[in-house]
Amino acid sequence: MKRIVILISGRGSNMEAIVRACEAERWSAQVVAVLSNRPEASGLRWAAQRGIATAVVDHRAYAQREVFDLALAQAVDLHAPDLVVLAGFMRVLGSAFVRRHAGRLLNIHPSLLPAFPGLHTHRRALEAGCKVAGATVHVVTEALDHGPIVIQSVVPVLPDDDESALAARVLATEHRIYPQAVRWFVEDALEWQDGRLRHRLAQPQGVTSGF
Ligand code: GRF
Repeated sequence: MKRIVILISGRGSNMEAIVRACEAERWSAQVVAVLSNRPEASGLRWAAQRGIATAVVDHRAYAQREVFDLALAQAVDLHAPDLVVLAGFMRVLGSAFVRRHAGRLLNIHPSLLPAFPGLHTHRRALEAGCKVAGATVHVVTEALDHGPIVIQSVVPVLPDDDESALAARVLATEHRIYPQAVRWFVEDALEWQDGRLRHRLAQPQGVTSGF
C-alpha cells in the first residue's frame, strides 16, 4: 500500500480527483494526508470531511523560505509518504525540499511544458496566439516547472476564449491526467529510457480533448 501526501494551496480540485480515483479504482495506495500552506484553502475542508489527515504549514509564519521548506518537509515526513503530490501548491519549493523527496515528487502545471513555466499560463498562451493549450504532469526537479514529463493533455484554444474559458477547458483535462499519472507511480508503471520517463507498456502519455 503506497502512501500519498498531497500539498494544496486552494480549491484542491486536482486533489479531489486523485482521492476519488484512488478509491473508485481501488489503487494499492492511500492518500494519507493533505497539507496546505494556506489555512483558508477550501480543499482542506473537503479532505477532512473525507477522514483524511490535514495540516497547515503557513508560509506567512516564516521569514525565510528555507525555514518554511524545512517545516513543510517535517510535516510531510510525519506521514512517511512514498509519493508527494503538488496539486495547485502555489509556493516554489527550494532545492533542499526537492532533493529530500527526489524522484517521488510530482507537480501539475497548466501549460504544455516547456512552454509557459511560471504564472498566468492561460493569459500568456492567449497573448501568444497559441492554437492549442494543455497541462503537464512532471517530476519535480530543482529547475522550476522543468522536470521529466509524465503525461500531457492538449485542448484547442477557441477564437472566443478568455482566460477563464481556457482555464476551465484545461482544468477538466488536469482531472484526467493527474490521477492517471499518480496511478502509474503507484503501479511502478514508468521507467527511465534515455533520460525520459516512459510507460513500460507503451500506454499513451498524451491525451487530447475537445477537438
Ligand atoms: C490548477 O490549474 C493547477 O494546474 C494550477 O493551479 C490550479 C489548481 O487548481 N497549478 P486546484 O486547486 O487543483 O483546483
